[in-house]
Amino acid sequence: MSEWVLETQSISKSYGGVKAVDQVTLRVKKGSVTALIGPNGSGKSTLFNIISGVDKPDSGRILISEKDVTGYPPHKLFQMGVYRTFQNPRLFFGMSVLENTLLTVKSPGDNPLAALLASKWLKHELNIAEQAKEILEMFSLSEVYKNGASEISGGQIKLLQLAMVLMANPRLALLDEPIAGVSPHLVPIIFNALLRIREQGKTLFIIEHRLHELFEVADWVYVMGRGKLIASGKPSDIVSNDMVKEEYLGSSMV
Ligand SMILES: Nc1ncnc2c1ncn2[C@@H]1O[C@H](COP(=O)(O)OP(=O)(O)OP(=O)(O)O)[C@@H](O)[C@H]1O
Ligand SMILES: [Mg+2]
Repeated sequence: MSEWVLETQSISKSYGGVKAVDQVTLRVKKGSVTALIGPNGSGKSTLFNIISGVDKPDSGRILISEKDVTGYPPHKLFQMGVYRTFQNPRLFFGMSVLENTLLTVKSPGDNPLAALLASKWLKHELNIAEQAKEILEMFSLSEVYKNGASEISGGQIKLLQLAMVLMANPRLALLDEPIAGVSPHLVPIIFNALLRIREQGKTLFIIEHRLHELFEVADWVYVMGRGKLIASGKPSDIVSNDMVKEEYLGSSMV
């Protein structure tokens, strides 16, 4: 088994005349927390769209655990354990917090043989309910589990997104700005939730602009600038990289 969950090989994508992603080659190690940073418009979300099958690359390849999955649709990638959260949360707002959490679980009903064995199925359902309870507690959401997803606060929505990541138990979770837009007092709470996910040995690939906090949890950092990968390294190397400082001039990092 390869130690790399994800490999992108020379991925490019243009919109009209804009090279949103320009020959990006990178790898994400199994069990790591890997960060993807870069100024606004540098192509980070576009790269996540391509990895998660939301968009197709113009050229290049995507490998998940060494399998070439280039051009696979999102549901097929989800079945393979690629889970993605969006910059603007996509939840079922007409459903409750608990229902949203349960939705991410692949049911044994997906397997026609397992679905026939009612006893096995019931046990599975009970285990899932138990697990959901634990995860919602972990993220301080047990008080609101019956509430509609439209009734909870912005910070709770971010926490719910992370609870759904743990519940989905993916091979690779792509988190697009899991902290953006929350009030400052919630930032440490959400980072703590990320630390809890990390403790469980999950592989996380995270886009985030809050570099100070992100660098506390990241093992490895990739930096994009105008569609290209411009640097990579440990957080301590990245903070002292001159090219990175230049790209971020005037932003939160310098
Ligand atoms: N669907 C699209 N159609 C046209 N242009 C797009 C599309 N998606 C992205 N772009 C362009 O591609 C470039 C990269 O955008 P992208 O959203 O990937 O950046 P980003 O690094 O995620 O930025 P941010 O930090 O602001 O979220 C930008 O110039 C953007 O305008
Ligand atoms: Mg983005």
